[in-house]
Formats: sequence, C-alpha cells, structure tokens
Amino acid sequence: MRIDVVSIFPDYLAPLDLSLIGKARRDGLLDIRVHDLRVFTHDRHRTVDDTPYGGGAGMVMKPEPWGEALDALATQGDPRPVLIVPGPGGEPLTQRTARELADREWLVFACGRYEGIDERVYEHAADRMDVRVVSLGDYVLNGGEVAALAIIEAVARLLPGVIGNAASLDEESHEDGLLEYPVYTKPAQWQGRAVPDVLLSGDHGAIARWRREQQLHRTARRRPDLLHASAAADPDDLALVP
Ligand code: ADE
Repeated sequence: MRIDVVSIFPDYLAPLDLSLIGKARRDGLLDIRVHDLRVFTHDRHRTVDDTPYGGGAGMVMKPEPWGEALDALATQGDPRPVLIVPGPGGEPLTQRTARELADREWLVFACGRYEGIDERVYEHAADRMDVRVVSLGDYVLNGGEVAALAIIEAVARLLPGVIGNAASLDEESHEDGLLEYPVYTKPAQWQGRAVPDVLLSGDHGAIARWRREQQLHRTARRRPDLLHASAAADPDDLALVP
C-alpha cells in the first residue's frame, strides 16, 4: 500500500519509522511518503493560512498550496487514491472504516491546522480522489497529524504481513462488535489477586463461555450503544447481558 501524508509539520509523522509500521516500511509492505506543505508555497514567508471570508476567529488554510500539493501527487489515472482529511467534523473512524481503507491501494492524508482547509480544495480533489473527512472522536485536536497516525496504524495492521500473528486480529475489540474480554498472564497470584479459576481449568468450552460473558458485561457497562448494533443482538447473548 502507498500512503502519502501532507503536513506543515512533517516531523510529527516520525513515529511511522517505529515498531510494526516501521518494519513494514523496511520490508516493502508499506510505501509511506511524508511531504511538507510549505514546499508548495511561493512567497518569502511560505504562507499557508489567511483570515476567513465572512469573519470569525482563527485562520483558514489557503487553497493554493493544497491544490498544488495534491496536483503533484495525483494526476488522473489508476489507482484512484482516497484523500483522507482528518477533522472533528468528519465521519467517525471505526473498525469498518479501517477495513474499507485497508482494501485500497493508495491513501493520501491532508493534515489541516487552524480552522481547517478552504472548502474548494476538497471539491477540486474530488475529480480524481475519493474524499473522506474522518474524525477520531467528538473532541478537538490541534491538527490532523495525530489523527493521521492513528488512522494509518488502524489500517496498516490489517494488511497481510504487517502483524506477525494474524489470528490476534480476529479476537480484538470491535472486530465482532463487542469490547474485548479481560486478559491475564503469569503469575497466577499477584498482589493478593488471583487469575479467575476458569482460565486455569483447561476446559476450553467453559473458557469460551466465560470470555463471551465478560465481553457482553464489559460492553453493556462501557459501551451500551454497541450492544444494540452488534452481533450481540443474538438472543443467546442478550440473556447474558446484565
Ligand atoms: N483534527 C482536529 N480534531 C480532530 C478529530 N477529533 N479527529 C480527527 N482530526 C482532527
């Protein structure tokens, strides 16, 4: 998969050299290219923002540098990239979004700052890119870079070969619409606290049932909204919901 990230703070993307994503890059599974938006400015101050038409607080990112940057990346042709614009006004990032994006060959991230990017940039890009504004959640960050890191990690780990143990992908929170069950490792006693007996029983059926029940309890407590939308609408599961 190819990923381009455009930002006025390219150094913010340095963590993409670390851990599993860094290894996937070195292994040639991910071709990630980070670009400095200011390269596409032409004035002495390398200006990327200006005051908003209509008034109001803050600054808006100018269309010209963004237009040039995106034109330089993607001309008409194949494959058609997805342009991801992280922003609090976007569709929420979910595991489903991550899976959809993982099926694409090419992602381009436009990391905005200030009050956002001039709206015409999205319209201009839509001729040759599938534009998606994506939000990490209902809160406001200072810019799109941290969100781009999160989205890239959520997507890249779904690509074949990026995670050593692909089986671990299936049992995670959100893959079946529920939160994950609690996990334990050795020692069996720690600080006067014991690992639940069932996990030491060797009874795989009982362990699977206990885990499912824990998933349902946890989801009911922390994320009741998910219970209704998930496979937990299964009547056998609903009987386990407290
Ligand atoms: N940029 C600023 N706030 C954001 C959010 N909540 N999600 C994604 N990008 C953002």
